[in-house]
Amino acid sequence: MPHQRRIEGLIAAMTLEEKIGQLGAFADALRPFAFEFNPETFARDAEQVREQIRSGRVGALFNGVGVAEGREAQRIAVEESRLGIPLLLGADVIHGMRTVFPIPLGEAASFEPDLAERTARATAREATAAGIHWTFAPMVDVARDQRWGRVAETSGEDVYLSCEFAAARVRGFQGDDLTASDSLLTTPKHFAAYGAISAGLDYNFVDMAPQTLRDVHLPPFKAAIDAGALTLMSSFNDINGVPASANRELLTDILRGEWEFEGFVVSDYTSDLELVAHGYASDEADAAQKALSAGLDMSLQSGIYAGHVATLVEQGRLTMDEVDEAVRRVLHVKAAVGLFDDPYRCLDAGREADQSHIAAHDALARDCARRSVVLLKNEGNLLPLKKAGQRIALIGPFAQDTANLGGCWNIFGDASRMVDMETGVRAALEDPSALVVVPGSGIEAPLEGGIEAAVAAAREADVVLLALGEPHEFSGEAQSRTQIVIPAAQQALAEAVATAGTPVVVVLRNGRALALEGAVRDAQAILVGWFLGTQTGPALADVVFGDYNPSARLPVSFPQDAGQQPYFYNHPTTGRPNVPGTPRFFQTRWREVSHAALYPFGHGLSYTRFDYGAPQLDTARLGWDDALTIRTRVANQGTRDGEEVVQLYLRDRTASRVRPVRELKRFRKIALAAGASQEVVFTLTRADLEFHGVDNRPVAEPGLFDLWVAPSSAVGDAVTFELLAP
Ligand code: BGC
Repeated sequence: MPHQRRIEGLIAAMTLEEKIGQLGAFADALRPFAFEFNPETFARDAEQVREQIRSGRVGALFNGVGVAEGREAQRIAVEESRLGIPLLLGADVIHGMRTVFPIPLGEAASFEPDLAERTARATAREATAAGIHWTFAPMVDVARDQRWGRVAETSGEDVYLSCEFAAARVRGFQGDDLTASDSLLTTPKHFAAYGAISAGLDYNFVDMAPQTLRDVHLPPFKAAIDAGALTLMSSFNDINGVPASANRELLTDILRGEWEFEGFVVSDYTSDLELVAHGYASDEADAAQKALSAGLDMSLQSGIYAGHVATLVEQGRLTMDEVDEAVRRVLHVKAAVGLFDDPYRCLDAGREADQSHIAAHDALARDCARRSVVLLKNEGNLLPLKKAGQRIALIGPFAQDTANLGGCWNIFGDASRMVDMETGVRAALEDPSALVVVPGSGIEAPLEGGIEAAVAAAREADVVLLALGEPHEFSGEAQSRTQIVIPAAQQALAEAVATAGTPVVVVLRNGRALALEGAVRDAQAILVGWFLGTQTGPALADVVFGDYNPSARLPVSFPQDAGQQPYFYNHPTTGRPNVPGTPRFFQTRWREVSHAALYPFGHGLSYTRFDYGAPQLDTARLGWDDALTIRTRVANQGTRDGEEVVQLYLRDRTASRVRPVRELKRFRKIALAAGASQEVVFTLTRADLEFHGVDNRPVAEPGLFDLWVAPSSAVGDAVTFELLAP
């Protein structure tokens, strides 16, 4: 390992207090920012933090921004602390810095990991110019319950899609060279199974089969590590009774033992201290002992390592070797990102000034945003609208809103650059006066006279754009919902507007799949707009007027009804599967609603039409060590150029554990000119057929598999192949 001698030399020279110092990260009170995201920012004031740095009692600061004060903090660490170990400066830079890109869930809808790589690269450039080395991203939790507020931060309900986006984001943030001035160190989070919290209730327990943990929730972390991630964040939840932040099996046996991870694990915000509230540790000291010995290297904000590890070592409850190992990992990461060679990297005032607004990032934000918009429905080809000759009423609380463009994790975004929907739509029109804008309702409460004004405007118009949905604070941490529906005041607005009889295009703002009801569900056209960031207005206008032909697909299933949660396409097969067209009784079903998703995972329309030929397999009998090639011809049968997400799903017909009804295994987004066709080729091997068996080891089992190449998880005809025994 490079730098090994320097690291061992430092460890040999360090006092126990200095070692413990490297294992603590604290809020950056020297350059405080976004107090609402970190209520304990001022638990230590600036002078206390300076003194902490000087005496070697802090290893990292987080959620501050700005070069001048960051440089001063680093100067104190390097010049005034005894051993001169540089600080690591971290922050939650999740889906953009100054330029805000779509929320991760929205970006995942693009089904373009390359796009996520580019937005992460752009984000890294801006964040490193602003004095940040290390981001607490990407979030790689797999989210299968739409009640959970943090679905917005994920790549949705599918394992393969989550893996592809996890790896792409790590590559994008970090770039090719971790020591480059614009490389942003990543922290895939939250390790692990945070997306499986019971009932979608944030921080709730996780009770799951160990095989589900390995089949569903761990793979995106492995993908992120394989892509070069060097730190991980442990999660708040327990798994089968053992909190993740003190989970030796997870943090040591799997992570270090099986995966040979060489970086460090940081706790989530005070998640080490929360072992006490969990009833897993009797007090702070017990919590520190349990967390550190399980493999949790760095404590974020709680201060319990600083407060107790020295005594624990004196008492023999922790060994010096355990402490040294954690310190070694932290120093290894600091060395790997080049901090020992250039402690002032990312702290360049010139770069900060030059790169405060990179114009090319606006274009990227617009392109990413329009590539994230999903067209759910388009009756009678209502969309795209014409830019002239139509009177348009833009109605709804999100028509002129800029406060809810950034989504739930936008702490450094440049508010002055946010472009709302009205501005985007008006700018696209040949005659801007053809657009009338009426809020009609507040987000959660009616507006006096709002509905009357909205209905009058709808009557006067040829088409209504109805901008409805969730405010950003319905998503994010501690924001679970019981009813994943449009707030009542807005639903009432939609019902009233529908009575005008004018065709309606619903444009949703949302951080999760929603259960669409009444007039919203019945609107002639529906666009899923997520939280699209800085360029929301222009991007929506591009889609609405057809300057961009929508190409995104749902990364989460839209259910029929809120009460169906958790609802995801790739669920295990029941003994009484729901087979459409057969009598419904005594099948897996709900009494009130159809079993099929309203809009399934992978669904999304285009302004053109794609036809699929039957998939051709090069063999129906796949040899144990062979590869299977699948060829499918996809044709653009419409009159517009467009992009299609060609999806390959598998089902293992018979296995020693019950397998999902379908699982995404490959996808490819292709661009096809009107009238053109292309053969799409996929290759699978035995590794793609593996799952964790009864003994919790990976296994592929000979036998029959169904395979679909289709435009969503709910359509297409299966072809069958057999995996032959070795
Ligand atoms: C969140 C993390 C975040 C951390 C630091 C926690 O509350 O769960 O996702 O990175 O705070 O701000």
